[in-house]
Amino acid sequence: MTRKGIILAGGSGTRLHPLTLVASKQLLPVYDKPMIYYPLSSLMLAGIRDILIITTPHDLAAFHHLLGDGSGWGLSISYAAQPSPDGLAQAFHIGADFVGDNPSCLALGDNLIYGQGLSEALAKADGANTGATVFAHRVEDPHRYGIVAFGRDGRALSIDEKPQAPKSHWAVIGLYFYDGTAVERARSLRKSARGEYEITDLNTTYLREGALQVERLGRGFAWFDAGTHASLLEAGEFVRILQTRQGQLIASPEEIAFTSGWISTDDLIGHAERLGQTDYGKALMLLASEAAAPAK
Ligand code: DAU
Repeated sequence: MTRKGIILAGGSGTRLHPLTLVASKQLLPVYDKPMIYYPLSSLMLAGIRDILIITTPHDLAAFHHLLGDGSGWGLSISYAAQPSPDGLAQAFHIGADFVGDNPSCLALGDNLIYGQGLSEALAKADGANTGATVFAHRVEDPHRYGIVAFGRDGRALSIDEKPQAPKSHWAVIGLYFYDGTAVERARSLRKSARGEYEITDLNTTYLREGALQVERLGRGFAWFDAGTHASLLEAGEFVRILQTRQGQLIASPEEIAFTSGWISTDDLIGHAERLGQTDYGKALMLLASEAAAPAK
């Protein structure tokens, strides 16, 4: 069974007001591309091509305008509305028919992950047939996240959502791999005290059965949830610095589709031409020409 991808790109974005008074948070720029390109790229790196985007009824048209049916990137993209932001696990209520009993991966639309060995980590998570895999990253401010407590043997003992007394500094990041039971489990959840279907509660159902793998991403990884003005700017600066230094794109769906063999060199050149004289377009053009010649 093929793994299905969901990107949750709704919410009210109140922490980014006034930026998000009229524009969807996940369409805001992170340097040279819309925020949603980053989680979309994470799914694509995991080899996931059948993707559901969930956003507010108001923002659906804008996402569709940007991404269409995904065929230009060798994907199949469909859309669904979340009428009100009732929690991350609601993605599996809204996406129940789309996911069915297939394995799945939920990506939060505001999460950017970058690091050496990311593709291998994603491939490993994708290769697991049963249970769930989540990733954890060290943070300074554990009150803001889902926080994992580990035992002496390194196994996860618990996950607490936005704990007042955090048991560690390891936050669960917004990229969750599930086996075919996620929809069924999500249906059994009740709303939390803050009125949301919590992703942490869904993950805890796996943890209790010893079926949750928590992979720690170490120093070689960067993770941003571009949820505040400062973190949005930091994420953009990070991408700008790396891209400029390395002359390589971070999170380009065109590049991933091309290197995965989902689109042809001509398709890639078409994308490059549409992006015109931007550095993004030039980088894609270079990629197309390098494919025909050895790397320099
Ligand atoms: O970023 C990682 C963290 O994401 C995890 O460590 C937490 O365990 C998890 O609960 C979540 O915490 P946040 O406080 O960051 O979640 P937030 O409510 O900001 O939602 C994350 C994104 O999902 C955001 O871009 C808005 C979108 N969203 C949120 C909700 C609650 C939706 O599209 N629909 C929703 O119902």
